[in-house]
Amino acid sequence: MAEDLSIAQGTKEEQYQALIPQIKGLLDGEPDLIANLANIVAALKEQFSWLWVGFYLVKENQLVLAPFQGPVACTRIKKGKGVCGTSWEKAETILVPDVEQFPGHIACSSKSRSEIVVPIIRNKKVLAVLDVDSENLSEFDETDQKYLEQIVDLIIFD
Ligand code: SME
Repeated sequence: MAEDLSIAQGTKEEQYQALIPQIKGLLDGEPDLIANLANIVAALKEQFSWLWVGFYLVKENQLVLAPFQGPVACTRIKKGKGVCGTSWEKAETILVPDVEQFPGHIACSSKSRSEIVVPIIRNKKVLAVLDVDSENLSEFDETDQKYLEQIVDLIIFD
């Protein structure tokens, strides 16, 4: 059984650096994708207390809601729609400092003010995205991008 997460203080960088080895420990030896996605979102939510942290999996040419923590969310997103569908289509991370300035943003929660979406790419195909929402404007920057991309690289898809 996993032990309690140790919550780090300090800069954002220090928090990620303390969290990533713990996420590695949670994933170690566990092949089940959903179990691993569930623990990753729980660990991120516990460390950073963001509004919403979750995955969408590509299924039959749509993004379908997968493990998440936060308010209830829309279940399906089409390619090119919203921040998630755009990240999927472009196969790149998208930082949105102010969701009201992002054309076509899908508002799952009216509390969300800024967002980052990181695609999970294997063999040049996007298999899923990690979506994080904050109640603060401009919450996410290149540091989040760097470490969240490292975290999603740890996930093994069969
Ligand atoms: N805001 C996202 C939709 C997903 S929710 O934020 C959980 C988007 O525009 O794709």
